[in-house]
Amino acid sequence: MPNDFLSFFLAWMSSPRRVGAIAPSGAALADLITREITASTGPILELGPGTGAFTYKLLKRGVRQEDLTLVEFGSDFMKLLQVRFPGARVLWMDAARLAAHRLYDGAPVGAVVSGLPLLNMSTRKVVSIVGGAFSYIRPGGAFYQFTYGMSCPVPRPVLDRLGLRAKLVDRAVMNVPPAAVYRLTRRPQMKLITGSLAPDASTPVAPGRQTSRDCTTAA
Ligand SMILES: C[S@@+](CC[C@H](N)C(=O)[O-])C[C@H]1O[C@@H](n2cnc3c(N)ncnc32)[C@H](O)[C@@H]1O
Repeated sequence: MPNDFLSFFLAWMSSPRRVGAIAPSGAALADLITREITASTGPILELGPGTGAFTYKLLKRGVRQEDLTLVEFGSDFMKLLQVRFPGARVLWMDAARLAAHRLYDGAPVGAVVSGLPLLNMSTRKVVSIVGGAFSYIRPGGAFYQFTYGMSCPVPRPVLDRLGLRAKLVDRAVMNVPPAAVYRLTRRPQMKLITGSLAPDASTPVAPGRQTSRDCTTAA
């Protein structure tokens, strides 16, 4: 893994809010955010790869470059990513536009790894990014996000709106500054009305009550 401090620092100087850190993530954080990913995870979408601190770790875990899509908005990092990961799909785009482009046929993605500085973004933008990413994540897949903050950087109302839950994977206290990684997954869907509890078609139902057997709600 090359020493990218200078190029990263210069990118931060020109756009501090977008880059969100003065140095690339260290080995401990890269290890943590990719910990649950293996070669069999399948297609992986990486958001905000920067100089590739997490990308290198994914390759070490056996992920094939052909399974990687890297979405980066900083023109300063584009050439470098294309040279370093020639087998990966490298896209120069705003991650908030994920849903506007058809990046995949269907939803095959096993994991999203995000280095995006979500705390510097509006709630609206966070909804677009996380919602767009989940439109490509297959059932059982996960979105991994790191933060320098003390809690999950995706606010609770956004999780509720998107039907997601967040769980702390762990903290990388050796990273400078210390960071934490959260795993976002879909909430399990529970059937509200089943079998003999379901009203038959002739039963009057109070306004606002669910009548369909197929109605589901997030837990
Ligand atoms: C904190 S750096 C993380 C870089 C790298 N993942 C690491 O951990 O060293 C954030 C990265 O997200 C990129 N970024 C910021 N906003 C973005 C957006 N809307 N879409 C795509 N990339 C974005 C920045 O250019 C930068 O490369």
